[in-house]
Amino acid sequence: MAANGPQPNPWITAIRAYEPGRARLRQGGEAIKLSANENPWGPSPAVVEVIRAHAHGVHRYPDGSARRLRERLAALHDLEPERIVCGTGSDELLNLVPLIYCRPGDSVVHVRHGFMVYPIAARRAGAEPLAAPDRDYVADVDALLGTVRSDTRVVFLANPNNPTGTMIDRAALAHLHAGLPPHVVLVVDQAYAEYLDDPDPDGALALARWAPNVIVTRTFSKIYGLGGLRVGWATGPAAIMTELDRVRAPFPISTLGLVAAETAVSDQDWVARCRAATRIQRARLEAAIARHAHRGLRAVPSSANFVLVLCPDEGPCSAPALLAGLEDRGILVRHLPSQGLPQALRITVGTEDETSRLIAALDELAA
Ligand SMILES: Cc1ncc(COP(=O)(O)O)c(C=O)c1O
Repeated sequence: MAANGPQPNPWITAIRAYEPGRARLRQGGEAIKLSANENPWGPSPAVVEVIRAHAHGVHRYPDGSARRLRERLAALHDLEPERIVCGTGSDELLNLVPLIYCRPGDSVVHVRHGFMVYPIAARRAGAEPLAAPDRDYVADVDALLGTVRSDTRVVFLANPNNPTGTMIDRAALAHLHAGLPPHVVLVVDQAYAEYLDDPDPDGALALARWAPNVIVTRTFSKIYGLGGLRVGWATGPAAIMTELDRVRAPFPISTLGLVAAETAVSDQDWVARCRAATRIQRARLEAAIARHAHRGLRAVPSSANFVLVLCPDEGPCSAPALLAGLEDRGILVRHLPSQGLPQALRITVGTEDETSRLIAALDELAA
């Protein structure tokens, strides 16, 4: 970089860019992609139809306020539409929170082995990300509270958590909230909440209705199967929503993204079917891993649409060996050494056929 050329802010150059799950095989050919926690059954057929029907109208700007989508979400979750803000994926909203509440030099707390976007969001605002230790891959609320400093402005918690799949219960979340100073924003990222039966599995939506410092984010990228359209939303106190509205993109969701998400919300039958199917295939995968316990493999109990598989440090079942062996068989999974997990693979739950092929490959590699 020329000394007299443009100089990026040092907190920007400190960012380690997000690494998406790989979509292509080294050797080429069709991959079974189990590396990005997508819904392998895709969106509801009604969504595909509505996208087709609206293709002719894309020369018009979308409704930047996403009014109809907010109304449908509010009706489904018993929320106020005025207290919902939609974004270009929940990523956009997660990135905006530290920008609003942190000054350079402040800090943001998240769980070690947490979602990769949190430290990026912190650094974008010039804040320092602080990782709190977990306990056997589960968020440790007291450790999170112990990591909070006087300059902490935001705490991020994904629940269920990515990449571990674990979650904390209502009582633990309430304890976390009660222990935070009132000026700290608690962001509960419920990207995987729809994989549980309870519509508010950890009570975060209830908390965000009354607490002045709690927001919940959700996404259409997971169970709704709309990752390619980039739709997310947040709810919380009116004061925080006002600030999010001030800094969000003017037209965060495309015309097709809006109609797709509106239709997806109205097809809860599809959501329920995907939830049930995910559970069946997840149980098959967990049972297959358990059969190879003598090889040193262990599945961390998951509440989401993926499983973190802990591997031995060396040998044919080490994470790098399994990663390569699965790729040789056309299957892409996620290895996350950059998130402090060199000994683990995160495997997204696939369709019945994909799961059968994955299990056959694992059986072969662990034989
Ligand atoms: C915990 C968590 N939050 C948020 C997201 C991002 O969702 P979106 O596609 O809505 O930006 C993901 C996606 O992997 C995730 O795992």
